[in-house]
Amino acid sequence: MKRQDLLFAAIVVLVVAGLIYLSITGRHPQPTVKNIPEHQNLQALTPRAKCLECHDPQNGSIVDKSKRIQEKHPEKWKDEKFSCLKCHTLQKDSSNASLLMILNSAQTK
Ligand code: HEC
Ligand code: HEC
Repeated sequence: MKRQDLLFAAIVVLVVAGLIYLSITGRHPQPTVKNIPEHQNLQALTPRAKCLECHDPQNGSIVDKSKRIQEKHPEKWKDEKFSCLKCHTLQKDSSNASLLMILNSAQTK
C-alpha cells in the first residue's frame, strides 16, 4: 500500500469513529407517546401551539416543570413554522419506544 492510501484509510476510520461518538453522546428527542393520557387526542397535524399549552416553559399547564421545555432544549422549538412532531415523532405506544428513538435519531441527524 502507498503512504497516501494509508493516510486516506486513517482519515476514514477517524471520521466514522467521530460519527459514532456523536450519535452515542448526542441529545435525542423523546417520542411523543400516545399512551400518556394528556396525549390521547394528538394528531400528526396538531399545531405546536397545542403542545405549548402544556409544555411552554413559562406558562405551560404541566405542574412538573421538568416535563415542560427546559432551558437546555434545542432553540429550534421557537420556530413557529416548525412542528414539534418533526423531532418528537408521534407514537401509538411506548412498547418499542427506544428502538424507534434510535431509528428516529438516525433520521434527524
Ligand atoms: C394536555 C397537555 C399536553 C399536551 C397538549 C401535550 N402534552 Fe406532552 N406531555 C404532557 C404530560 C403531562 C407529560 C408527562 C407525562 C409523564 O411523564 O408522566 C408529557 C410528556 C411529553 C414528552 C416527554 C417529556 C419527557 O421529559 O420525557 C414529550 C416529548 C412531549 N410530551 C411532547 C409533546 C408534543 C410534541 C406535544 C404536541 C404535539 C405535546 N406533548 C402535547 C402533557 C401534554
Ligand atoms: C430540532 C428538534 C426539536 C424540536 C423542533 C423540538 N424539540 Fe423538544 N427536544 C428535542 C431534544 C433533542 C430534546 C432532548 C433534550 C435533552 O435531552 O437535553 C427535547 C426535549 C423535550 C422535552 C423534555 C424536556 C427537555 O427540555 O429536555 C419536552 C417536553 C419537549 N422537548 C417538548 C417540545 C415541544 C412542545 C416542542 C415544540 C414547541 C419541541 N419540543 C420541539 C428536540 C426538539
